[in-house]
Amino acid sequence: MKVLVIGSGGREHALVWKIARSEHLSALHAAPGSKAIGRLATCHPDVKANDLERIVALAQQESIDLVVVGPEDPLVAGLSDRLREVGVATFGPSAAAAQLEGSKAFSKAFMARHGIPTAAYEDFDDAAAAHAYVDGLGRPCVVKADGLAAGKGVAMCADAEAAHTAIDEMMADKRFGAAGDRVVIEEWLKGEEASYYAICDGERIVTLAAAQDHKRALDGDQGENTGGMGAYSPAPVVSEAVEKKILERVVHPTIHGMKADGHPYQGVLFVGLMIDEAGDPAVIEFNVRFGDPETQPLMVRMEGDLLPILDAAARGTLDPSTALGWGEAAVCIVLASGGYPRSYETGKAISGLGALEGNDGLVVFHAGTSGSAGGDDFATAGGRVLGITARGADVAEARARAYAAVEGVSFEGMHLRRDIADRALGR
Ligand code: AMP
Ligand code: GLY
Repeated sequence: MKVLVIGSGGREHALVWKIARSEHLSALHAAPGSKAIGRLATCHPDVKANDLERIVALAQQESIDLVVVGPEDPLVAGLSDRLREVGVATFGPSAAAAQLEGSKAFSKAFMARHGIPTAAYEDFDDAAAAHAYVDGLGRPCVVKADGLAAGKGVAMCADAEAAHTAIDEMMADKRFGAAGDRVVIEEWLKGEEASYYAICDGERIVTLAAAQDHKRALDGDQGENTGGMGAYSPAPVVSEAVEKKILERVVHPTIHGMKADGHPYQGVLFVGLMIDEAGDPAVIEFNVRFGDPETQPLMVRMEGDLLPILDAAARGTLDPSTALGWGEAAVCIVLASGGYPRSYETGKAISGLGALEGNDGLVVFHAGTSGSAGGDDFATAGGRVLGITARGADVAEARARAYAAVEGVSFEGMHLRRDIADRALGR
C-alpha cells in the first residue's frame, strides 16, 4: 500500500513511525512532513497541509492508495471530500462530519438532539444577548468561540465579570477572528478529564484506548492552556466500567447519530470527556483527528498493525472484532521552547538526541525541529519541540524512563513539566 500522511508535527511523526512498521506498506510519503519524518518517509515540504489542490495532485501523481490526514484544518476545509471525489481513499471525515470539531454550536446541537451527555449550554450570535444571559446565570461558566481557535478559544469564567470579558474578546475584539462571531456558553463541569479514541468507518468502530494530556503550561496545572505538555496512556480514570459507559452513552450514539443525520463519520473520533465522581462521562468536546501529544504514547503502546485498520475505516470495511493489542503503558514528556505558548525564539541547537537512539522502548518524536537529518544535528523550530515517549510495564515505569531520557537532552530556554502522569500514580 502507498500511503501519504498530511501534517508535520509530533502527532504526524508518531503516525508515520507506526505506519512505517506495517507489513502492508510499500511506500510512505508525507506532506509537508519534517526533517525527522524524512528519516521514515519521502517528504514533500512544498505541499502544505492546507493546500488542498496540491495534496490532491500529489496523491494522484504518486498513485497513493491511502491518505491519512493529521490536523483538523484541512478536514474542516474539505480535504477528504476532494480526495474521495478523485477516487483516493482517505482516512479522515468529510467537511460535513468534521463540523463536530469545526463548530461547537453544531456539536452541542448534535449532542442535544441525540441525547449524548454534555454540559448544559446556550449559543449566541448576538453579543448583547450573550451578556444578558451571563447576568442571569449566577454561577461559573465556560465561554467558547464557536469555530476553530487552535485550542485557545475557551475561557473558564469563575464569575460574570470574567464571562463578560471573554464575550467581549471573542465577539467585539475578534481575538479569534470569525471563529468568535458565535459563542457557546456552557456549564462548568467538575471531575477528571480523559480522552477516548475510536476508529470509525461510518457505521462500525474499533476502539483504541484512553489517554490523558496535560494542557496547562506549568506544574500543578498552573499557567496558560497549551496544545499539550505531555500525555500518558492508559488513563486509570477510565476503568472498564467507565469505558463501557463511554461506549454506550457517547461513542455509539455519536456514530449512529452522524449516520442518521446524513453525515456518516469516518476517521478517528477523539472525545474529550469529564468523568464525574460517580464515573459518569460528559463530553467536553469532539475532535475529528488524533490528539497531539496523546497520539505519541498511543502509537508507542499499540502492538498491532494500525495501517489495515486505517485503510478499512477509509473504505467502509472495518471489522469491529479487530484487536489492536496494547502494551502496558506509555508516557510522553513534551520539551517546549521557553515562552511557549506565547512568543518564543527558535533556531536553538538541540544536544543529546544521538545518545537516545537505539534505546529500546523509547522514541523521540519531533514536534517542531529543523536541521540536517543526522545524529544530534537538530535545532528548535516551534513552540513544542520534542515528545520524549517511553513504554513501560506500568505508567510509573514508563514515566521514570521518559524522565531519565529527558535528562540528557537540552537546548537554550528548554521548558518542560515535571509532573506528567503524577495523577495516574497518585490513584
Ligand atoms: P475544549 O477546547 O472545548 O476541549 O476546552 C479546552 C479545555 O477547557 C478542556 O480540556 C477543559 O480543561 C476545559 N473545559 C472546556 N469546557 C469545559 C466545561 N464545560 N467544564 C469544565 N472544563 C471545561
Ligand atoms: N492535546 C489535545 C489536542 O490534540 O487537541
